Amino acid sequence: MGKQTWKPGNMLNPVPAVMVSVADKDGNANIITVGWAGTICTNPPMLSISVRPERYSYHMIEETGEFVVNLTTKDLVKETDYCGVKSGRDVDKFDVLGLTKLEMEHVKAPGISESPVNIECKVREINKLGSHHMFIADVVGVTVDDKFMDETNRFHINDTELIMYSHGEYFALGEKLGKFGYSIQKKKTKSKAKSKSKTKSSDNKKRENKKSKPKKNK
Ligand SMILES: Cc1cc2nc3c(=O)[nH]c(=O)nc-3n(C[C@H](O)[C@H](O)[C@H](O)COP(=O)(O)O)c2cc1C
Repeated sequence: MGKQTWKPGNMLNPVPAVMVSVADKDGNANIITVGWAGTICTNPPMLSISVRPERYSYHMIEETGEFVVNLTTKDLVKETDYCGVKSGRDVDKFDVLGLTKLEMEHVKAPGISESPVNIECKVREINKLGSHHMFIADVVGVTVDDKFMDETNRFHINDTELIMYSHGEYFALGEKLGKFGYSIQKKKTKSKAKSKSKTKSSDNKKRENKKSKPKKNK
C-alpha cells in the first residue's frame, strides 16, 4: 500500500453545487449551476464564482455585474443538474422547471423562491484566470425561508437538506459529526453537571457556557 502522485488537477472535493440566477440588462433571466463557488471573505462578506466565458450566463453577469447564489437542497437536486447541463440559449430554465422568480431587494436578477437561501451579489472584480473567469463579488443581501426559523429567530440552515457535489456526483449532507470547536471543549462530568443545575441560575449557566465556547472567528 502506498501513495500515488498525479499531475495537477482539480481534486478539491466536495464542493457546493449552487444555482446562480442571473439576468441581462433587459431583464431576461437564466440559471446556471456552479460548482466553483466559495466564500472568500467574512468582513466584508464576499464570495466568488468561476464561470467559463462561453456560458450563456457569462455575458449576463458581465453586463449587469449582479447575480444571486441560490443554495440547493435534496428537493432541488434534479433542477440543479438540469441547470448545469442545459443552456439558457435553448431553454427558459425557470419556465421548464416551474421555478418561481423571487424579486430581490438589492439586485435586478431574480432569486429562486424554492431555494431556502438566496444570496444577492454585486461583482467587484473579474479575474480572467484561464478556462474560467472568477467573479469576485460582495454579498449585498441575504434572504432566507422563514419556514426554517424558530421562535427565538434562529435560522436552522442544516435542516434545509443542503446538497453537495463530489467528483461528478450529488450527495445530501450526511450525519452530524461534531460542531465548531468541539475538539477542545471540556466535557462536563455527570456529577458536576448535576450540582451546577442545583446551585446556579439558568442565567449564570448561560454566561458560563459562553465563556467555555471557542470563538467562531473565521
Ligand atoms: C454540478 C455542476 C457544476 C458546474 N459548475 C460550473 C462552474 O463552476 N462553472 C461553469 O462555468 N460551469 C459549470 N457547470 C456547467 C454549467 O452549469 C453548464 O454549462 C450550463 O449549461 C450553463 O448554462 P448557460 O449556458 O445557460 O449559462 C456546472 C455544471 C454542473 C452540473
